[in-house]
Parts: sequence; structure tokens; C-alpha cells
Amino acid sequence: MTLFEIDNVRKTFTNGEVKEEILKGINLSLREGEITALVGASGSGKSTLLTIAAGLQPTTEGQVLFEGKNMTNMSAEQVRQVRASKFGFVFQFAHLVPFLTVEEQLMLMLDVSETKLKKHEQTEEVNRILKLVGMDHRKNAYPSSLSGGEKQRVAIARAIIHKPKVLFADEPTASLDSKRSKEVMLLIRDLTKTLNITTLMVTHDEEMLAYADHIVKMSDGLILQNTN
Ligand SMILES: Nc1ncnc2c1ncn2[C@@H]1O[C@H](COP(=O)(O)OP(=O)(O)O)[C@@H](O)[C@H]1O
Ligand SMILES: [Mg+2]
Repeated sequence: MTLFEIDNVRKTFTNGEVKEEILKGINLSLREGEITALVGASGSGKSTLLTIAAGLQPTTEGQVLFEGKNMTNMSAEQVRQVRASKFGFVFQFAHLVPFLTVEEQLMLMLDVSETKLKKHEQTEEVNRILKLVGMDHRKNAYPSSLSGGEKQRVAIARAIIHKPKVLFADEPTASLDSKRSKEVMLLIRDLTKTLNITTLMVTHDEEMLAYADHIVKMSDGLILQNTN
């Protein structure tokens, strides 16, 4: 099933007097339970496209349909609600809170999310997610004692603890060595399949493409090739 429909999306940035078109008419659909990898040279517009799909910035032209609803016409508050309840985010760096343990980072997410769980249910949920990402044995650890790959596993756990339908990952393996990158990709792939998540991932690492279901090559604001 198609979850996202990106329809003739254009994005122009204005720097002083100069207008620059960064996305020049993008059409793309994302299907449930699949990883779509966005690849292309630095500056080709990958992150801009990801943030537009995620409702983090508006389009200049064109529309983004999520679950059949036009996000482009929603109010900022409606978009925020969709983002908070349906989307999860992972970036190049884990951005964990240094003074919270692994378990506390995730408890905090449940506290601020709209899922109304009792304390003991929160603890159970955190343990379940930590098992899923292979980090239950490190639940009392602080970020400073974790490896890059472990931090990224916690960041992934944090991104999916509210059961989002979509995972947006911008260069999730860019700060990891090859072995850890593969482990993190295997995890993202496993979660995408077992939880039926729709994953949109930006990467410039060709090796990571082996884990994608669908590869979209961008160049200079356009889609050059789409393996759909
Ligand atoms: N907020 C912004 N204002 C002006 N220019 C921007 C902004 N965001 C991105 N750009 C420009 O858009 C181009 C594409 O950026 P980006 O989408 O981050 O590319 P990628 O992720 O493929 O490296 C770059 O030239 C960048 O400088
Ligand atoms: Mg980028």
C-alpha cells in the first residue's frame, strides 16, 4: 500500500536577491513495509526532500499526501500532530541526553508523547523496545559509555517507541564504521519489516543500498533514476 505520495514537489530558497530552485518537480511514492533509499551527491536536495515529506518545512509548489491526506493544506498544528504521532526520526548523530541512562532516555519519550501509559507499562514498553534493538543489557548505561553503533541503536529505539508508521533516517550510518553501519542497517531493515514501518532513508554509502527495497537517485533537485 502507498503511504506517501509526493506529487510534483518544488522547493525554492531565496538568499538575498538570489532565488535557487533546490527541488525541481519530485514525484515519488513510498510503500508500507519498505525502505526507500535516497542517494545522490551532496547538495542534490536529499535532506530537503526528506524534511518536506516529514512536514518539517513547506513545499513551494506541489503536494505531499500522507495516508491520503494532503499535508500541504494542513495547519501547522495538524502537521505537528501527524509528526508527533506517526513519524520517527534518526539522524547521523544519536543526539542522546548525556545525563540520562538509556532507559531514562526512552522513559522521557513516553512521558512527552501522547501515549498515556502508567509507569509500570512504560517500563515494560521500554524493556520491550530495548530488546528489539538489542540494547536491553545496556539499559542503565549513560551515553558516554556507549559505542557509536550502540548510541544509534538507542536513537532508533527512541524513534520508534511511540509506534510511528514512518521512519525518517538522514544518513543514519554516516558516523559509523563499515561493520557497525551494516548492523544498524540490518536493524532498520528488520524493524521496517517486522513492524511494517515505511522507511525513508538518505545515504551516500553505496554499501547500504543492499538493504533498501527501492532506490531513488537524485541529482541537482531531480530524480535521475527510480528502481520502483
Ligand atoms: N534553508 C535553506 N536555505 C537556503 N538554502 C538551503 C536551505 N536548505 C538547503 N539549502 C540548499 O539546498 C541544497 C540542497 O541541500 P540538501 O537538501 O541539504 O542536500 P543533500 O542532503 O542532498 O546534501 C544545498 O545547496 C543547500 O545549500
Ligand atoms: Mg543531507
